[in-house]
Amino acid sequence: MYDVFSLPEFAFPKGFLWGSATAGHQIEGNNTHSQCWAYEQSNPKIEASGMACNHYELYKDDIALIKELGHQAYRMSVEWSRIEPSEGKFNMEAVQHYLDELQLLKEAGLYVLVTLHHGAHPLWFEEQGAFSQLENLRYFERYLNFIVPKLSPFVDNWHTINEPNLGWPWSDERAITKANYMKFHARAYHLIKQYSKAPVSYSHAFVHYMPSRRYNPYDNLMTNLKDFLHHEWFFHAIRTGELLSLSANAEYVGELKDSVDYWGVNFYTRHMVDMRTNPADAPRIKHKELKMICKDFYLEEMFPEGLTANLERLADRPVYITENGCSCDDDRFRIVYIALHLSALRDAIDRGVDVRGYFYWSLMDNYEWESFIPRFGLVDVDFQTFKRTPKPSAWFYKDIIAQNGYSPEILRRYLHKLPTLAQ
Ligand code: FCB
Repeated sequence: MYDVFSLPEFAFPKGFLWGSATAGHQIEGNNTHSQCWAYEQSNPKIEASGMACNHYELYKDDIALIKELGHQAYRMSVEWSRIEPSEGKFNMEAVQHYLDELQLLKEAGLYVLVTLHHGAHPLWFEEQGAFSQLENLRYFERYLNFIVPKLSPFVDNWHTINEPNLGWPWSDERAITKANYMKFHARAYHLIKQYSKAPVSYSHAFVHYMPSRRYNPYDNLMTNLKDFLHHEWFFHAIRTGELLSLSANAEYVGELKDSVDYWGVNFYTRHMVDMRTNPADAPRIKHKELKMICKDFYLEEMFPEGLTANLERLADRPVYITENGCSCDDDRFRIVYIALHLSALRDAIDRGVDVRGYFYWSLMDNYEWESFIPRFGLVDVDFQTFKRTPKPSAWFYKDIIAQNGYSPEILRRYLHKLPTLAQ
C-alpha cells in the first residue's frame, strides 16, 4: 500500500481547470435508438442500461450538484442516436434538450467539453457497418454539419471520438477500422474548425502496459507491441499523418497531420503483459498495493507512476486529463487514488508537460457499459430512486479544487486510516 499520508503538499499552475466527466449513454437513460441499447436487449448475460441515472430528466439537478461540488468544468457527450434516431431524420426535441442543458451549464459558469461520439451511435449507422466502412464518413459528416454549429456557442472544447484506440489486435480487417477511426476523427476535426474556435482533440485511452516478468524478453516484446498498437501508432498518425501497417505501405492522410490541438488523455491503470497467456493478459497480482475494483472486473491495477511516465511522451502539445478515476465500493480507495494520481500529474508538470486540466471520471455512479456494479462516482446514485448523495471523496475533491492543490491537511479531513484489502 502506498503511504498516502506521507505525500507532501503540492500546487497546480494558476488557471488549472478542475472538473468531472460523464457520457450520455452511461447516465441519461432510455437511449433506445443506439446500437448499445440493441446489444443490451439482445444479450441476456449483461445488465441493460435502462434508465441509467435518469440524467436526461434530472440534468438541472445534476448541474446544481456540479456547482455545489465546486467543479469548474464538465465533460459530457451528446447522443447522436437521440438527435438522428433514423437516417437523415433529425429530432428537434433532442436538439433543444441539449441546447437547454448546455445553456444551463454555461449560466453556471462552467467550462464545457463536449464529446461527439462516446461509445454509442444510432443503430441504423451500426447496421451499415459504422466505422468499419469508410463510405459511412458521409453520415458522420452530415450529422456533424447539422449539430456542431448549433452547439458551438456553448462549447469550450470538443472531443471528436472517445477512445478510438481501444481494443485493436493486429489483424488486417480490424486494422482497417482502426485507420478509419483516425480518418473520421481527422475529418471531424476540420469540420468543427469551420464552426468553432474552441480546441479540438479526441480522448486517448492510455493504459500503461508493463511486462509481467520484468526481464523476460517475450513479455517485453509483447509489451512494446501492445504499446505500439494501442498508443504509438495513434500518436505517430497524428504527428505525421502516416497510418502505419504491418502488411502494406504506410498510408499518408494529409488532414490527419496535427489534427489535435492538445492531447486528451484517459488514464486509469496499468496492464501487465504475460506472453504465456492469450491474449497476453497477466492475472492481477493478488497482493497488489490497492484493490481498485469491487469485484474482479478488470485485470488492471492502479499504477500512478504510469501517468507521469506516459505524459512525458506527450510533451509536444498541451494535455488535458479527460478521464481518471477509480471504481470501488469503499470510497476511501477513491480518496487515495485521487491523491496519488494528482501527485503523479504534478510530477509530469515538473518534468515539462503542459497539463491544463483534470476531469475526474465520473461525476456520479453510472452504467459501466455492461453493468451497474462498478462504481466510479464522486456521487452515489441509488438506481431505484435516482437519489444522488455525494461521497466523502466529492468533498475531498472540492477542497483540492478550492486550494488548486493538495495538502496533507485536506487528506486528513477525509481519511483517517488506510483502507484495507481484507475481504
Ligand atoms: C473509459 C470510458 C468511460 C468509462 C470509463 C470507466 O474507458 O471512456 O466511458 O467506461 O472507462
